[in-house]
Amino acid sequence: MVKVEKFIPKAIDRIKEKAKGKTIVGLSGGVDSSVCAVLANRALEDMFFPIYIDTGLMRKGETEVIEEIFSDMNLQVIHAKDRFLEALVGVKDPEEKRKIVGETFIRIFEEEARELEAEYLIQGTIYPDKIESEGGIKSHHNVGGLPERIDFKEIIEPIDDLYKDEVREVAKALELPDEICERMPFPGPGLSVRIIGEVTEEKVDVVREANAIVEEELLEQFKPWQTFAAVIGKGTGVKGDVRVHGWIVAVRAVGSRDGMTAEALELPWETLKKIETRISGEIPSVARVLYDLSPKPPATIEFE
Ligand code: XMP
Repeated sequence: MVKVEKFIPKAIDRIKEKAKGKTIVGLSGGVDSSVCAVLANRALEDMFFPIYIDTGLMRKGETEVIEEIFSDMNLQVIHAKDRFLEALVGVKDPEEKRKIVGETFIRIFEEEARELEAEYLIQGTIYPDKIESEGGIKSHHNVGGLPERIDFKEIIEPIDDLYKDEVREVAKALELPDEICERMPFPGPGLSVRIIGEVTEEKVDVVREANAIVEEELLEQFKPWQTFAAVIGKGTGVKGDVRVHGWIVAVRAVGSRDGMTAEALELPWETLKKIETRISGEIPSVARVLYDLSPKPPATIEFE
C-alpha cells in the first residue's frame, strides 16, 4: 500500500521537474483526474490549467459539484452539450457512438490546448490502465486516447504506479471531499452508453433522472461496486386511464472486484419496489422498470 505522506511530496516534485510551461489536465469528476489536478495545482500554481468539458452526458449535478470543488483552481468549464448531441444525431451503433463522443472530446480539448498554448498534459492514468492498455484489454476505457492525437512536449502521469484504492487514499490525504474520494466508476462516454439506440436529449434527461434515483436509493445502504439506470427502449403502459408508449428503464446494481467480472446484487424486494415507484412516478414518460439479473460474463456491466 502506498505511503501517502511520502507519495504526495514526491509526486509534486516530479511534476515540477517535468512541467516547464503551461500545463493542462482534463478533469472528468472521477477520483484519478481530481487527484492529479490537486497535485498539479500545488506543484505549478498559475501555470496549471484544469479543464472540464460538460458533454451534456454527465450525471445529475456532476458539473456543479466539479465547479464548486475546483472553484479556487482557475477551472475552465466548457459547456458543450449541443455539440455532443448534434454529433450523435441519428447514430445507433454503440461503437460508433463511443467513437463520436471520444472524437468530439478530443477536438474540444485540442482547441482549448491551442488557445492556452499549453505544452504539457497531465493524465490520470493509473497502474491497471497501463497494464490493460499494454495488454490490449479495455483500450476503449481511455476516452479517445488523448496523447496520441495532440502534440504535447510531455505527457505527465503522476499516479501511474497506483492502484485505485491507493488513489482513494491519496485523495483523502489531499482532503478532497468524500463524494470524489468514494466516487463510483463512471464511463468516459458518460450516459450515452446507458441509452440503447440513438442518443436524444429526451432520453438523456430520462436516464439522468433515473440514475440519480438509483444512486440515492442504493449507494449508501448497499455499497454496490457500481449502480445505475439505462433506457433500453419503449413499451406500452397505462398512466391514469390512458395507454402510453413510455420508456423502459433497466436498473443495474453489481458487486465486483475490478470490473472484469460482476454479479447482480440480491436487493430486497421492497427496495426494488421503491425504485420502481420512484422512477415511474417521478419521470412521467417512463412506463416500465426492470432489474437486470445478469452477471458479467455473459453480460457486460454497462448496456453498451
Ligand atoms: P463493461 O461494461 O465493459 O464495463 O463491463 C466495465 C467497467 O468499465 C466502465 N466502462 C467504461 N469506462 N470508457 C470508460 O472510461 C468506456 O468506454 C467504458 N465502458 C465501460 C464501466 O462503467 C465499468 O465500470
